[in-house]
Amino acid sequence: MTDSIAVLGAGKIGEALLSGLLTGGRRVEELMFTERHPERAAELTARYGVAAVDVATAAKEAAVLIVAVKPQDIEPLLDELAPHATADTLVVSLCAGLPTSLYERSLDDGVPVVRVMPNTPMVVGEAMSAISPGRHATNDHLAVVEELLSVVGMVVRVPESQQDAVTALSGSGPAYFFYLVEAMIDAGILLGLPRAVSEKLIIQSAVGAATMLAKTGEHPVILREAVTSPAGTTIMAIRELEKHGVRAALLDAIEAARDRSQELGKAHDPS
Ligand SMILES: NC(=O)c1ccc[n+]([C@@H]2O[C@H](COP(=O)([O-])OP(=O)(O)OC[C@H]3O[C@@H](n4cnc5c(N)ncnc54)[C@H](OP(=O)(O)O)[C@@H]3O)[C@@H](O)[C@H]2O)c1
Repeated sequence: MTDSIAVLGAGKIGEALLSGLLTGGRRVEELMFTERHPERAAELTARYGVAAVDVATAAKEAAVLIVAVKPQDIEPLLDELAPHATADTLVVSLCAGLPTSLYERSLDDGVPVVRVMPNTPMVVGEAMSAISPGRHATNDHLAVVEELLSVVGMVVRVPESQQDAVTALSGSGPAYFFYLVEAMIDAGILLGLPRAVSEKLIIQSAVGAATMLAKTGEHPVILREAVTSPAGTTIMAIRELEKHGVRAALLDAIEAARDRSQELGKAHDPS
């Protein structure tokens, strides 16, 4: 296990991580966090017992610094961090779209940086996180990050060049599922079901389908064919989905998200 861990910026994602690390067995004394607003800091300390510190203290005392501020807040944070972070400190960035080169330009030469694209199901311990090493991060650093993040979900390693695709798939992915669920609940209303019943039917169907995919390891085509009987109800619905180009819409949608992620990343990477 790693030594102490500091979360820099304990908002939604930072708090989810703190809470997950505690549930996963980390001791309160091993953790610390930084926050801009004293009221928010006091609230988190009261809730979790974890100490709020300033950035300089976090950088001096923690072996791992997890950066979880909004991407637009990164520059002032790096200015605060730069005088204190050394090659012995592992910097883990959860900030969407920020390349490791941005950190490497601001911090001392040799400071290892690992970039992570998590997603919001981290708040329920079901995140999908993709991690990529910067120039000075080794396999050991990646293993540390894998161990840390595995308490709040699953982790895969990808080259940093694939992070825009990851952002479009799993980063934004939960939003696509929420959108589909919302549309299907509306369909229930259209068919005359009460909203509460429609919500229950669709949400549990989504949970059930996701659990089958995760637990059986079967290909989605096999699972779908198993409920698509000849001249039955499901194939009538599938015909409409194909007629309306839903598959093509998803391909286009995810490609557009990837393009936007590339565009946003360029703002932080002049190379
Ligand atoms: N939420 C998601 O769906 C999601 C998914 C994947 C990745 N991420 C990434 O996770 C990061 C955090 O997102 P979030 O949704 O958790 O944002 P958030 O709720 O706004 O949390 C960021 C926190 O950091 C604090 N902060 C900002 N600058 C600071 C500084 N210099 N020192 C200490 N604290 C500072 C902010 O305080 P203030 O309130 O004063 O601004 C806020 O409490 C982002 O970079 C985002 O790209 C988020």
